[in-house]
Amino acid sequence: MKKNLAIVFGGRSGEHEIAIRSAKTVIEQADPANYHLFPVAITPEGQWLSPAESLAMFPEETVAAFEREYGEPSDRPHLLTGDASAGGFTIPNGGTQPLDCVFPVLHGTYGEDGTIQGLFEMADVPYIGCGVLASSCGMDKVTMKTLFREADLSICEYVWFLRSEWEQDPDGVVHSVEAKIGYPAFVKPANLGSSVGITRAIDEGSLREAIALAAEYDRKIIVEQGLDVREIECAVLGNEEPSASEAGEYIIRDETKAFLDWDEKYTGTGNNEFITPAPLSAELSGKIRQLAVRAFKAIDGSGLARVDFFLRKDNGALLVNEINTMPGLTDASGYPKMWEATGMNFRSVIDRLVDLAIERYDDKKRNRTDR
Ligand SMILES: Nc1ncnc2c1ncn2[C@@H]1O[C@H](COP(=O)(O)OP(=O)(O)O)[C@@H](O)[C@H]1O
Ligand SMILES: [Mg+2]
Repeated sequence: MKKNLAIVFGGRSGEHEIAIRSAKTVIEQADPANYHLFPVAITPEGQWLSPAESLAMFPEETVAAFEREYGEPSDRPHLLTGDASAGGFTIPNGGTQPLDCVFPVLHGTYGEDGTIQGLFEMADVPYIGCGVLASSCGMDKVTMKTLFREADLSICEYVWFLRSEWEQDPDGVVHSVEAKIGYPAFVKPANLGSSVGITRAIDEGSLREAIALAAEYDRKIIVEQGLDVREIECAVLGNEEPSASEAGEYIIRDETKAFLDWDEKYTGTGNNEFITPAPLSAELSGKIRQLAVRAFKAIDGSGLARVDFFLRKDNGALLVNEINTMPGLTDASGYPKMWEATGMNFRSVIDRLVDLAIERYDDKKRNRTDR
């Protein structure tokens, strides 16, 4: 029987546009033999749109293809309630017919950080990807690093502080960064993605500007030692015994570009290329797959994640940079490409993700909530 799958996308996040591009790929690639799809867009202001309004966010060809497969979407909004007895998340015009699964195709704040996952838990509906805890731990670069260290994963040197500390004692913060990290330093808001608010500081002046910028985005700021690195990624899929894909590598051709900023990642500058499989020795590739799984387990991940590594050019050391619990899923994104290179097309990845979501939901149902 076909499953009713909601694709929730967009969201109250700086990565709103990327989430629309990811959702487009999911909608185009999901197997119509297995699903009935219900698109649900969340606007940058946080408004949830009806399926008809949501579909209108996509290009004409996507809309036409969707309507050929699934018919015209409803103009009545979905009902989502935290009252689990009321059917949780129901289909418009469907009475109390619940959705079988939700795919939160949301990157960054209010989507990848555990907040919407909490809403789905309350509504008692299976959802794809990491749960509340893993999502929030994967989002916060400071908490993530603490868990990585606990799991014996190598990471770069860093310091972190609160915006309030910076505002009260900027000189003290600058001195402590210079003493522990030095230059170049990467200054980042702790809870963001897609390189938003990130600056590579090379001296005291640029450090102060970089911290002031990061402080506009978050109350928690992290500063890392800036390294000269190759950027390697690995896709993870599964629940408690996950699999890792072939690694991929971002090659930046323009030597004047110091790092993968927003433009490099998304605007198709032509300066960079994502290569799968990454040109690495068999031994190193194996190690990367193993460490990607370890990083996934360190945050208690489920469903999917992409683990990003730094391979130092000076000494060959392999460090874990970060884990992304809802990696980009656009047609240019690494996650689908790495599975493709491992022999699994994105359509099968989606099928697997739905099964994993339902598997985790059923497993949680085994827990007693009485005393
Ligand atoms: N410590 C570092 N040394 C060198 N480059 C870095 C460092 N931290 C980040 N970068 C560069 O900045 C990019 C974005 O940083 P990242 O921590 O991955 O943040 P985001 O969550 O926004 O992707 C990385 O892909 C890399 O190009
Ligand atoms: Mg990154």
